[in-house]
Amino acid sequence: MDYRVVTGRERNDIESLQQVIIKAAWPEFMNHDVYISRYWVTIYRRFPEYQYALLGSDDDRVLAIGNTLPLVWDDEPGDLPDRGLDWALEHCFNHLDSGMEYKVLCAFQIVVATDLLGRGLSYDGVREMIKVGREYGLKKLIAPVRPNQKSKYPLTPMINYINWKNEQGLPFDGWMRVHARLGAATVRVCPESMLIEGTPAEWELWTGIKFPESGEYIVPGALVPVKIDRETNRGTYIEPNLWMVHTLR
Ligand SMILES: CC(C)(COP(=O)(O)OP(=O)(O)OC[C@H]1O[C@@H](n2cnc3c(N)ncnc32)[C@H](O)[C@@H]1OP(=O)(O)O)[C@@H](O)C(=O)NCCC(=O)NCCS
Repeated sequence: MDYRVVTGRERNDIESLQQVIIKAAWPEFMNHDVYISRYWVTIYRRFPEYQYALLGSDDDRVLAIGNTLPLVWDDEPGDLPDRGLDWALEHCFNHLDSGMEYKVLCAFQIVVATDLLGRGLSYDGVREMIKVGREYGLKKLIAPVRPNQKSKYPLTPMINYINWKNEQGLPFDGWMRVHARLGAATVRVCPESMLIEGTPAEWELWTGIKFPESGEYIVPGALVPVKIDRETNRGTYIEPNLWMVHTLR
């Protein structure tokens, strides 16, 4: 499919371009991650060159988008932490203006327009991330990968799920497969990648499901059950992801 790539460096409307397809892509509860809520608006102002969109070759139709951030983190991949996406966001903003050199690029999300799913565009989205990382001289692309089809198996332990294979011996999960095909190594599960919290009433609003008593509930789109605690008036979802790492140089 023909497209051109723009980043926030060329387009100061990159955030609104991205929003055209982001909203429809995620279940509502995914918009309430504690750390994304805290930091996300700032990424477009501080790191516009790391946010991009694949647009139609001769119009502004948004085909896919991607978000990345550079990190000063420089340890071994095996030392990537139990927290994933939330850690990376916090790490990036904790080192703002530290003067330290950026070493790796962290992948935050790729979204393909819903009417263009299933045509291989996600590969182009990841290739673009790799290109951005190389352009800025970064050593690795680290990705807290969300194995999407895990939502069909919310009771299966993540460690089992990531080891499932298809007939070709590649990862069973489509999104893991994209990263693996493009050369990423599977490193380790980050069991606490994202923290999404709200009151039971908020969770009811986000999911359209009633939670009459405390307990664990299966929610469409969630990779593991959501815990509802009526006594403390909290609903908590801790999303496990998988660290995968692309070597860029
Ligand atoms: C994940 C996402 C980017 C994939 O985009 P896509 O363009 O539909 O995917 P592709 O057509 O490039 O397919 C990628 C692989 O996933 C597989 N796949 C795609 N959808 C699938 C599904 N529903 N079930 C099983 N496998 C699926 C494809 O078969 C392909 O694998 P293959 O090359 O081995 O055949 C897209 O579904 C999306 O935007 N989802 C919402 C946001 C999101 O979850 N982003 C990723 C985490 S940040």
